[in-house]
Amino acid sequence: MSAEFPYVRPRRLRQSPAMRRLVAETRLHPAELVLPLFVREGVSEPVPVSSMPGVVQHTRDTLRKAVVEAAEAGLGGVMLFGVPAVQDAIGSEGTNPDGILQRAIRDVVAEVGDALVVMSDLCLDEYTDHGHCGVLAADGSVDNDATLERYAEMARVQADAGVHLVGPSGMMDGQIAVIRRALDEAGHQDTGILAYTAKYASAFYGPFREAVGSSLKGDRKAYQQDPANAREALRELEQDLAEGADLVMVKPGMAYLDILRQIADASPVPVSAYQVSGEYAMVEAAAANGWIDRERMIMETLTSLRRAGAEQILTYWAVEAAGMLK
Ligand code: PBG
Repeated sequence: MSAEFPYVRPRRLRQSPAMRRLVAETRLHPAELVLPLFVREGVSEPVPVSSMPGVVQHTRDTLRKAVVEAAEAGLGGVMLFGVPAVQDAIGSEGTNPDGILQRAIRDVVAEVGDALVVMSDLCLDEYTDHGHCGVLAADGSVDNDATLERYAEMARVQADAGVHLVGPSGMMDGQIAVIRRALDEAGHQDTGILAYTAKYASAFYGPFREAVGSSLKGDRKAYQQDPANAREALRELEQDLAEGADLVMVKPGMAYLDILRQIADASPVPVSAYQVSGEYAMVEAAAANGWIDRERMIMETLTSLRRAGAEQILTYWAVEAAGMLK
């Protein structure tokens, strides 16, 4: 076979590890990784989440140890989820100043607050007995504006506990504005908002429901986005920015790389991605069967999120990935 001259040989830049390292466009760093953590009220031992091998619901004690480990690994932050002992229709424990999440925030800020950005989920599904992200209207639908009042109160108690960034994940219209105002009026001007901006109604959240003991029957399609739609993600972005979001997030990760790229191209504020429970579970399950190379899969999926525009990545592999990056 004779080749045309000049002969284009992209393989020259792939021929050695040193050459590949020199020309890599995308790099991962532990500082951009955020570890989601679950803390459960009333348990004396960590409780494994069976659909997420390696992930547990922490006790307050083991949570403290986990965040020290996260800080030592050089992570950027942690995202805390509370699992209360009692759920009710309005998610009362979510606004209890002594509720499990608020106690955990205090513990974690005291332990590693200077080394890590401490974030907390601001949503009602962990706390409601029906499992929805808000309070219900008489007809059983999620009442947007009544839910916003609950979110405002959640923002206040989480900020009082010292959290650095609240993470509203409920996809109610107007949630960022209401939370921003509640924070400012309570003197928490410096508490930021990591907005779940483009959050899709996804089957990839399946294992998370076990992790937070959610009893949801049905789905969240009336408030989370339709996987068929990309354009409305840009509308959500515009709205969240206008309402005061400090960072914006796309979720899930791998099945939404196109959305991530579009948001990253349009956003003047940092863009995060959440590699969710189902993404984690799929890789762990396939690896447990010996079907894939687990470590390469972890790095490849994280790299793809970074390449698509994520500047922060929430991932259950954060500590392990940071170790691999050293
Ligand atoms: C809502 C919330 C969910 C996740 C993060 N925040 C669940 C949902 O919207 O159904 C999912 C995270 C994951 O799957 O890892 N509080």
